[in-house]
Amino acid sequence: MVDCYTSKWFARLRHPLLRWYRAQRRDLPWRKTTDPYAIWVSETMLQQTQVATVIDYYRRFLARFPNVVTLAGAEEQEVLALWAGLGYYRRARQLHAAAQVMATEFGGEFPSAFEDILKLPGVGRYTAGAIASFAFDQRAPVLEANTIRLFSRLLALRDAPSRAASQRRLWEFAEQILPRRSGGSGEINQAVMELGSLICTPKQPDCDSCPVARMCPTFELGLQSEIPRPNPKKAFVAKNHALVVIWNRGKVLMRRNPPGQWWDGLWDFPRTDVTGDGSNASFFDAARPDSEDSLSGVRSALSRDLGLRCVPLEHFRTIKHGVTRFRISLFCYRAEREDSASSLRKLEAEWRWVDIRSPPDLPLTSTAEKLRRALMV
Ligand code: ADE
Repeated sequence: MVDCYTSKWFARLRHPLLRWYRAQRRDLPWRKTTDPYAIWVSETMLQQTQVATVIDYYRRFLARFPNVVTLAGAEEQEVLALWAGLGYYRRARQLHAAAQVMATEFGGEFPSAFEDILKLPGVGRYTAGAIASFAFDQRAPVLEANTIRLFSRLLALRDAPSRAASQRRLWEFAEQILPRRSGGSGEINQAVMELGSLICTPKQPDCDSCPVARMCPTFELGLQSEIPRPNPKKAFVAKNHALVVIWNRGKVLMRRNPPGQWWDGLWDFPRTDVTGDGSNASFFDAARPDSEDSLSGVRSALSRDLGLRCVPLEHFRTIKHGVTRFRISLFCYRAEREDSASSLRKLEAEWRWVDIRSPPDLPLTSTAEKLRRALMV
């Protein structure tokens, strides 16, 4: 028996792992290329989105922006529009910003040095490792949700993976599993991610099919449902937002979120915070959104925060959604514009009447898109 976590042990782990990966791997478009640009786009999309959803977006994005130079030269609104539906738009904005950095600082080429990749906007240690190993076959480790789970089990890690000491141990493991000699790191990284995603799943991992189960202390101890231990939950903060749908000749009033605010640059129905923390909308009552008090609370909050004068008439839907640590209840109202063109004229740049029956070419927030679809039926 080989001692755990020695270089011999890691060599023993790699062989069945690679054999399994070569036989079982999914045929994914970004696995057919070593173009760092395409790999970077795929990894950025895959950060918060499922593989099945990413495939079409990836193809469309690369068809429109096949390289750094085309992306760097694009309008941000077009980049966001191609991202519409994927969510977490900050990723798209950072791709665009990073392409511009590469256009100016690297002559439009993707840098190959790990440290240069890591400095690009939006690129963290995981993404830099993925690009360096998949595109350039450098000996760069990766650690993301799937490998955290797999490595935690191979280490029988008792602590929550998010703890600093766990992170250090997991990165060390990610590095040790790579072959010492040059070459092959990209494939090992793909293999551990694939094993984590297909076999070493959070619930009921398929240990019978796992090529490395016999080397796994968590399997041996039967602790698959205890390891990895859940990370401590973040405290959530509840918020109430109100949104108004105002019709005018078959169009609805929409607004582009200004820089520095949530969903910056994306289009939305007029909405604002009515949480009622004493400083604003103190009359809004989430338990009675159709009461006179609530209607007037919404009206005054929209007037004060957005300069929009309108009369909320009826509450027709509540959508729950989350952003960072906030849990938002979004109260949706039908409303009428109170004033004529005057007040909106000065705000023209960020307001527009939008025909919601034909999908607008504006990038919408995901809640606005959901509501748009609901209003069409
Ligand atoms: N998730 C993140 N990166 C991935 C990749 N390259 N293949 C499959 N799933 C992934």
